[in-house]
Amino acid sequence: MSSNQLDKKSEAWSALFSEPMSELVKRYTASVFFDKRLWKADIAGSLAHAEMLAAQGVISADDHAAIQRGMAQITQEIESGAFEWKLDLEDVHLNVEARLTQLVGDAGKRLHTGRSRNDQVATDVRLWLRDEIDLIGGLLSDLQKALLELAEKNADVILPGFTHLQVAQPVSFGHHMLAYVEMFARDAERMADVRRRVNRLPLGAAALAGTSYPLDRERVARTLGMEGVCQNSLDAVSDRDFAIEFTAAASLVMVHVSRMSEELILWMSQSFGFIDIADRFCTGSSIMPQKKNPDVPELARGKTGRVVGHLMGLITLMKGQPLAYNKDNQEDKEPLFDTVDTLKDTLRIFAEMAAGITVKPEAMERAALRGYATATDLADYLVKKGLPFRDAHEVVAHAVKTAIGHGVDLSELPLAELQAFHPGIGEDVFEVLSLRGSLNARNILGGTAPAQVRAQIGRHRSRLG
Ligand code: ARG
Repeated sequence: MSSNQLDKKSEAWSALFSEPMSELVKRYTASVFFDKRLWKADIAGSLAHAEMLAAQGVISADDHAAIQRGMAQITQEIESGAFEWKLDLEDVHLNVEARLTQLVGDAGKRLHTGRSRNDQVATDVRLWLRDEIDLIGGLLSDLQKALLELAEKNADVILPGFTHLQVAQPVSFGHHMLAYVEMFARDAERMADVRRRVNRLPLGAAALAGTSYPLDRERVARTLGMEGVCQNSLDAVSDRDFAIEFTAAASLVMVHVSRMSEELILWMSQSFGFIDIADRFCTGSSIMPQKKNPDVPELARGKTGRVVGHLMGLITLMKGQPLAYNKDNQEDKEPLFDTVDTLKDTLRIFAEMAAGITVKPEAMERAALRGYATATDLADYLVKKGLPFRDAHEVVAHAVKTAIGHGVDLSELPLAELQAFHPGIGEDVFEVLSLRGSLNARNILGGTAPAQVRAQIGRHRSRLG
């Protein structure tokens, strides 16, 4: 190397090369403009490595102190925006290391002892992703809490429940919101599970085969708060399954968000008119003055495609790569970063938007009444009078046909007319045929009765703390 300083990345690997890298190749191979966001993890990993090198007697205490001093200054330079990122230095690792050497001389050059960028980058991505998963966990809790508020406010509001998008049975609006709370709760569990496999240390694997220096890998793992050490050096530097797993978990979150988005969009349409979304989450039209569009849920539905696309990208990136590290893996970063950004923004905006949803109970009840949502309740009533369920089903089908003919709900048929379908029908049938009666009757664990909804809200609240 020509000087104390590493100005160009070609100087990082020796005199072997007899001509400079072409400008196009330099741009094509460089990652600094996106991987610089790993800088904090890069410095944390380097500091843990240096501390261990000193403890093992591989570098001196003075060198360790110099590295700490240099890294403190670099941190301050990056935070203040004074740090000069150089394309010539390819990536975040070489940029930080070059500046360190510029600041502290030979101590900086000793940092890379027993290490390769291959185990360094794998460590950085894992450290960075671990912290992002923790933030995402918090955002998933916030969203669940916002949905619980909405569920509690509307536990008694009756919504037509659908199957095949046809009115099926009445459900509590709160119950409907709790379905999404369950989905996001499982998403949070999945993230926590992925985190355990993300939070393992590749450092010590070096380029691919491990290193001859007496490194204490367990010590570095402890310093970095990692739960374990990758046990095979070839695997440690090469697999990105942890990033794929995370993106798969993120895709599922987005799929849940997308399903909810679709419902919000339908419910806000004139044909449904079940809800309103606060103006601050909607946009107008430049030509149609009457329009108020649910852009946020529409975009979230669209961004789901983007995140699922990143999952496909990452999984295809990994496929067919021979052991160990290949430059292909540099392509893991942009999809991973974009997945994290998209997910965090989406979760934040959904938690806020939940507070801006106004429910319109009359419209929902009207829709439930139009769809004979309590027909099953009449069948169940007849079963309690001794009719086999299949026969009861048949009797009620005739009753519904008659009601459709009259253009009324089942509950609006006179008692005498109902009795013509079955003599066992009495005055008490009208409570059974009411939407509220139907709702209250489903008082079973996991059912839609408001009492159950309230119990579930309590359970979720104590789980979320
Ligand atoms: N920028 C590279 C990446 O993201 C760092 C590792 C480079 N290693 C190498 N042998 N070229 O994967």
